[in-house]
Amino acid sequence: MAHAVFSIGRCSSRLAALEVQPNDASARMSPSSTPRFKNPRAKYNFQGRTCSISGVGSYVPAKVLTNAELAKMVDTSDEWITTRTGIRERRIAARNEFTSDLGAEAAVRALRQAGVSPEQVELIIVATITPDMPFPSTACLVQKKIGAHRAAGFDLEAACSGFIYGLEIAQQFIMSRTYDTVLVIGAEKLSAIVDWKDRNTCVLFGDGAGAAVLQNRPNSHGLLTAVMGADGRKADLLFMAGGGSRCPATMESVASGMHYLRMEGKETFKNAVQAMQTAAEEALRRCELDITRIKCIIPHQANRRIIDAVAERLGAKPEQLFVNLHKYGNTSAASVAIALDEAVASGHVQRGDLILMVVFGAGLTWGAAVIEW
Ligand SMILES: CC(C)(COP(=O)(O)OP(=O)(O)OC[C@H]1O[C@@H](n2cnc3c(N)ncnc32)[C@H](O)[C@@H]1OP(=O)(O)O)[C@@H](O)C(=O)NCCC(=O)NCCS
Repeated sequence: MAHAVFSIGRCSSRLAALEVQPNDASARMSPSSTPRFKNPRAKYNFQGRTCSISGVGSYVPAKVLTNAELAKMVDTSDEWITTRTGIRERRIAARNEFTSDLGAEAAVRALRQAGVSPEQVELIIVATITPDMPFPSTACLVQKKIGAHRAAGFDLEAACSGFIYGLEIAQQFIMSRTYDTVLVIGAEKLSAIVDWKDRNTCVLFGDGAGAAVLQNRPNSHGLLTAVMGADGRKADLLFMAGGGSRCPATMESVASGMHYLRMEGKETFKNAVQAMQTAAEEALRRCELDITRIKCIIPHQANRRIIDAVAERLGAKPEQLFVNLHKYGNTSAASVAIALDEAVASGHVQRGDLILMVVFGAGLTWGAAVIEW
């Protein structure tokens, strides 16, 4: 498994002083007194620190764009999109509605569920590939909008894998006692970087945001492990060339469509299936869990065929899968964050259940996380 690569804004952290413990004493006991799973962090002495998800929230814009409406814009059909992807409609943010607005609304809902006030938040991490602006960070804009004036904040760019990367980073801050309360947000306005004349890509993506409040809470496990991976050798499969230092905006860059995302669909598909399978298996192995023990699998919502192929390789049953991509399409960093919120709200996940989240995105990047809800 490759090491993870991602870019973040300025941040600082204290390194945790970790001691090795002789055995896994913190694994929760089942009625028969056998541990329910191996807690991979238990070999370190965190002195009872845990990283629980104490609240989740999501927000999608009101405007719905259906496949039938798309078929009036490009040479496509509801039948083609549905059979190849499973997507039926997606949400599109208003002109004056930006990534920070979507993220702030999701954050407010997550804070409300957690019973945490904005002033209690110590760090805001926003995973996004569509920041409001190159700088300042969208995290700072969200901070202002929700009134979390005590919080530090930075953006994280790991494309569709960003939310899992964000959970893992938040966990590191919490376990190291740097912070007690961290807000992780996945938010995207992908409609701003989609080429609405390119049928290969415009049918796939949508806008939205999801958020989670992570806290040290006694007597819970929360995030048990997170796998992160990357392979920059395949960066050219999914990218946006314009707008950075390599190709700043010019009349030519705009005219030649360099400010739109571009994708090599078939290769991306193959890599996604392989990487998601490997990441999920690694996360399960670390916790000594069999896939049958997972109550709810929340995969990146990019394509129903990718999800089904990964599920088949993992030996998962259809009823274990949580899928909402028919409503939203691929919302990149927001995808699994929105799905997690909806899985909880709809009762698919109850307290104590084990969740497997698995993601894949541009970079290439990938990740998986096991959570005890
Ligand atoms: C994009 C994707 C749905 C295409 O499906 P596919 O099975 O690979 O497509 P096929 O090769 O069978 O078909 C391609 C043909 O469909 C056409 N096509 C592409 N988009 C189309 C659309 N929206 N409507 C109709 N036809 C379309 C292509 O032009 C091509 O036509 P051609 O053969 O005449 O050149 C699929 O490759 C995919 O999902 N890839 C992964 C994308 C993804 O999830 N990216 C994000 C990862 S985070």
